[in-house]
Amino acid sequence: MGRTQERATTHPLDPLDASEIAAVASIVRAYDGDGGGLADGHRFVTIALAEPEKAAVLGWADGGAPPAREAEVVILDRRAQETVEALVSLDAGAVTAWRRRRDIHPMAVVSELMEAEEAVRLHPDFQAAMARRGVTDFDTVQVDAWPAGHFGPEDETGQRLCRAVAFIRPRPGDSEWAHPVDGVIVLVDLNTLEVLRVEDHGVVPIPAEDGNFDAETAAPLRDDIAPLEITQPDGPGFRLDGRVLTWQRWQVHVGFTPREGLILNRLSYDDGGRRRPIMHRASLSEMVVPYGDPGPTHYFKNAFDGGENGVGIAASPLTRGCDCLGEIAYLDAVVSDAEGAPVPIPNAVCIHEEDVGVLWRHIEWRDGSGEVRRSRRLVISSFSAIGNYDYGFFWYLYQDGMIELEVKLTGVLSTGAVAPGVEPEHGTLVAPGLNAMVHQHFFNFRLDLDIDGTRNAVDEVWTESLPPGPDNPHGNAFRPRRRRLASEREAQRTVDTRSARWWEIVNPGVRHRLGAPVGYRLLPGGTTFPFAQPDAPVSKRAGFMRNHVWVTPYRPDERYAAGDYPNLHPGGAGLPEWTSADRPIDGEDVVVWYTFGHHHVPRPEDWPVMPVATAGFLLKPVGFFERNPALDLPPPHPHHHC
Ligand code: CO
Repeated sequence: MGRTQERATTHPLDPLDASEIAAVASIVRAYDGDGGGLADGHRFVTIALAEPEKAAVLGWADGGAPPAREAEVVILDRRAQETVEALVSLDAGAVTAWRRRRDIHPMAVVSELMEAEEAVRLHPDFQAAMARRGVTDFDTVQVDAWPAGHFGPEDETGQRLCRAVAFIRPRPGDSEWAHPVDGVIVLVDLNTLEVLRVEDHGVVPIPAEDGNFDAETAAPLRDDIAPLEITQPDGPGFRLDGRVLTWQRWQVHVGFTPREGLILNRLSYDDGGRRRPIMHRASLSEMVVPYGDPGPTHYFKNAFDGGENGVGIAASPLTRGCDCLGEIAYLDAVVSDAEGAPVPIPNAVCIHEEDVGVLWRHIEWRDGSGEVRRSRRLVISSFSAIGNYDYGFFWYLYQDGMIELEVKLTGVLSTGAVAPGVEPEHGTLVAPGLNAMVHQHFFNFRLDLDIDGTRNAVDEVWTESLPPGPDNPHGNAFRPRRRRLASEREAQRTVDTRSARWWEIVNPGVRHRLGAPVGYRLLPGGTTFPFAQPDAPVSKRAGFMRNHVWVTPYRPDERYAAGDYPNLHPGGAGLPEWTSADRPIDGEDVVVWYTFGHHHVPRPEDWPVMPVATAGFLLKPVGFFERNPALDLPPPHPHHHC
């Protein structure tokens, strides 16, 4: 099995292909309904499918007409210092909506960051700051531009600001992250590429030790690795029809957007011939990485890698035998550049099966009889490289109806420098003079669950100990408790391992044979709470960090946990804003927004490249199936017991 197969009909949630992106860009460029249209020097930010409303997709799936094919386009009009939001009908070949805004800043464009970095590198004040540190070969300077964030009135100029820091790359191919230039911070206007300010907070020696991790540097390499081949002589067990993936009982449409990257659409399970919906759409809605160092080169670091950079735009092509192993199918992605030209990302999504050990087992101790079944999962994954970090987004579907999301965090630590002999207060020394600052990674996933239909509800389930007394004479008693979350404010919840708290998304209208509503249980994995002050700029801008669970009624325009445009935004947008209405959620088409985090106090072992750390969550069927749905798995070795 290889590439995406050609197909006769387009799925309404298929991402725009390269020819559609090119067509949209030329339709937008030709548009003159706006007093002459776009000025020279404009940049396309994103060109993406305007997803049809859920009702239209469900209608199409029931045999109705395909929804209109539309694109949503965001363009920076640099000369006017405005953002254009355009809607383009691909069926009509025309712009159908055009709105100019000055109140927002769309995500960063790769080319504007690179042009800003070059402007900084060539600026005399910046070069003077480098020279004060003994750096005179400016070709070795790697400037690193970050979206500026929002830190008060001076960031309210309306300018499209970025803050840039610098690293030294002694030789081409070296890891620049080993040689941070601490104390120098540059403010740039991305629209004009003007360097507004070069601050020098004092010279700290640039760490000298290299931090390369290529095979040549690491040599001699181990020679005791035995070959491990994963083969499926009959090919993989899944089938791809376009982007609709069928594996055993599961079916899902694999979507992709420039902002969110990998998306699961219309996930369902075939239960004895009945295809049961579970999740309409699952996506990374936002992420943020707040750093804990208050120093002038680091305080502003809190990357919103979804809404500021685009996780899909940053997706990397995957390599057979490296990123995934075995019988693999790939899906390509296409994003766009500043000119609106399609940029293909070949092999952006990897699909394969994995053996994951034992699924269930019982051996009778008296006579050794029994049964064992192995577990296999379908893996749908992508990797994005954003700045120094690499994030893998891995969805797993299991044979017992379980769904898992795992983020793999790897790449290179963000670094600063400290003077010799100084122990950093807000970080870990990972090499002489090299400070890896403490930080946290928060991810918010938007889960539009549709358990056996769209009308769902969310219960909180916890466990309580009973006090000693006549009902608890031996002190052992505990029991689960459950309450329905009625409204958005009531559904703003945090994890609590002491009470074994979790949440169950149920369909009150569909009952299990034993009486309870069918459902799926959201089980938190390892997570964390934010350490930034509640009124800190990052806490306002990433309000979704505050709670692990939020629940909203479905609205097509509520897609991103920190709002549509978090770049340079003062905060309050997204979940905190929507849920202030405190809308009812019991029996509605609910959307669960789950925030989880990875708390990162770096270790020397995370240097010079970080072994994968993971964070994520599970969705487990609870009363969805009559009993263990994996009883019908064949024994691993047919015709004889293990
Ligand atoms: Co980290």
